[in-house]
Amino acid sequence: MNYGYADDQPPQLSDCDVDNRYPIQLYHHTASQIPLKGKEVLEVGCGRGGGAEYLGRCFRPANLIGMDISEQAVDFCIEKYRDDKHLSFVRGDALALGQLFSPESFDVVVNVESSHRYTDFSAFAQGIYTILSPGGHLLLTDFRKSDKWDPVQDELREAGLTIIRTEDITSNVVRALDEDSVRRETLIEEMTPRILNNVAREFAGTKGTKLYRSFANGERLYYAMVIQKPS
Ligand SMILES: C[S@@+](CC[C@H](N)C(=O)[O-])C[C@H]1O[C@@H](n2cnc3c(N)ncnc32)[C@H](O)[C@@H]1O
Repeated sequence: MNYGYADDQPPQLSDCDVDNRYPIQLYHHTASQIPLKGKEVLEVGCGRGGGAEYLGRCFRPANLIGMDISEQAVDFCIEKYRDDKHLSFVRGDALALGQLFSPESFDVVVNVESSHRYTDFSAFAQGIYTILSPGGHLLLTDFRKSDKWDPVQDELREAGLTIIRTEDITSNVVRALDEDSVRRETLIEEMTPRILNNVAREFAGTKGTKLYRSFANGERLYYAMVIQKPS
């Protein structure tokens, strides 16, 4: 459900991950920034849970909770991953984190290609501050129109968080969309009625779409950020 990440030195993936190589690599890149092993981790905006499952299996946090606003997505995750005792899923709104979880209950929050949809990013940032333990991290990977990143960074700082690193990964995302285009086209043709193919292409960011061009020409930037709550 994300646009993916391509790299000259891709991680070694298991057979079960190869078909979803590029979306999985976006998770891998996001999570590689800090150690997750033994940590209490929350993923906000987990979608259908494939990224959360990969992080749980390969990065070995103590526990990982996936959260999403979509009841359908969360029901799917609960059913699909019900045998994994370190992985659980809950429905919730990214703008109400402080009401859902106890203060200081997570070491790391992961957030992949979800925050651009939030109607109040500042409420999200404040909730992150509340639920992170002191010294805890938010790993945020997402895109915005280029002039929208400064306000996002201001809102993170206003919430009391420190931006440790901001990496522009737009070219890696464009390359992923290029290299993954056959799979994406095939999925669109298999899963959507022909009349909706162009809408689905735009949503999937395949080559030639307005969204793809906006990444390629720098109108939209895709960032991977490491953000910390001070100790
Ligand atoms: C593009 S999908 C990405 C899903 C997943 N992170 C991935 O990379 O495959 C964005 C996800 O954010 C979720 N989302 C959007 N607004 C949300 C909100 N306010 N609270 C929680 N999740 C939200 C959507 O339901 C969707 O599953």
